[in-house]
Amino acid sequence: MDGRSPAKTTIYRVDRDNPESEFLAEASSIIRAGGLVVFPTETVYGLGADALNPYAVERIFRVKGRPPDNPLIVHIAVHDDLFILGKGIDWRAEALAKKFWPGPLTLVVPRSNKLPAITVAGLDTVAIRMPRHPVALGLIRLSGVPIAAPSANLSGRPSPTTADHVIRDLADRVDAILDAGPTDIGVESTVIDLTSEPPQVLRPGGVTVEELRAVVGEVDLHPLVTGAPIGDLVAKSPGMKYRHYAPRAKVVVVVGEAGEIKQAVQLLAAHLRRRFRVGVLGTDGHRYEADALRDLGPRSSPSGAAQRLFRYLRELDDEGVDIIVAEGWPEEGIGLAIMNRLRKAAGGLVIPADRVLRETPTISSYLRYGVMGT
Ligand code: TXA
Ligand code: MG
Repeated sequence: MDGRSPAKTTIYRVDRDNPESEFLAEASSIIRAGGLVVFPTETVYGLGADALNPYAVERIFRVKGRPPDNPLIVHIAVHDDLFILGKGIDWRAEALAKKFWPGPLTLVVPRSNKLPAITVAGLDTVAIRMPRHPVALGLIRLSGVPIAAPSANLSGRPSPTTADHVIRDLADRVDAILDAGPTDIGVESTVIDLTSEPPQVLRPGGVTVEELRAVVGEVDLHPLVTGAPIGDLVAKSPGMKYRHYAPRAKVVVVVGEAGEIKQAVQLLAAHLRRRFRVGVLGTDGHRYEADALRDLGPRSSPSGAAQRLFRYLRELDDEGVDIIVAEGWPEEGIGLAIMNRLRKAAGGLVIPADRVLRETPTISSYLRYGVMGT
């Protein structure tokens, strides 16, 4: 316990590489008793409970305000559990687990009957991942059970990359938080569905699509990943259909060629500032006239940008801006995950830079109306 502990939540500060066994032992006994423990992973913080205990899992849904049709990822610490919790594991699942576990990859496979229905939201598949963070692995091992864990944010908010983000969303609603400092990757794991042919990426993340293809050959992207028009597409991953990663401010993303993006963001921010407090999420040290500015860093280093993304969205909110204008990223490597999260935060409001340049007044009044309407 320390001074930051909210009334009912114990906060343990742990060293990433030397997790205090005493604290981990306490946290694991909370898990075994059906409690909720927030723990760090290499991607984002997770809100964990015993995946085999339906009452504990039910608490996760309640505490997060998560829709009951959105299944949880089950976290494991040994490869054998893939075969115990899943079934019909084919060569591709095995090859991906071998190559990327422990790490930021989640495999969707047919499920065995070991897990209660609530954990998988009644589906006949299960999402399984072995995280790379020593604290996460230690917690799962000591608990002796697989741990179901969504990101430890309130449903719809950006995922937490620090324990402070978790405290602000979930203080007093969980039994314990293991604080090991900021997470490395900053966006969630890649989710790949191995029950479709060819396998399909449902959520881009820490492992890139290029890396997946190098191991199993053909891999599709679900059309919602890059924001293709929805039409009558089915959201395969239930999480896909919810607005997500969203700060309170309205978000608009400007895409196109780098130089044009900069010009367009400048112009749009200036227009919007006549009426609103405007935040800009820029790159490459671009200077903008804005009420709040965060720079995701060099475009040549998308992994640094991924690490900062959710923190900056939260910080811009804290600065009380009404609207955030964000620079788009090329959709390759981890840039695909960055753009996917920005699209979701923007609720699809992604505008080509050349249009912004041609039609600034029209677009900014459309956005003004949108902002006023929220
Ligand atoms: O990096 C991560 O994956 C983090 C850390 C804590 O491990 N976890 C995480 O969990 O992001 P969550 O619940 O926020 O996102 C899980 C995603 C959701 O979009 C959910 O719909 C999808 O995985 N999912 C879970 N089970 C699934 C299944 N059986 N079939 C398809 N999608 C599934
Ligand atoms: Mg989440």
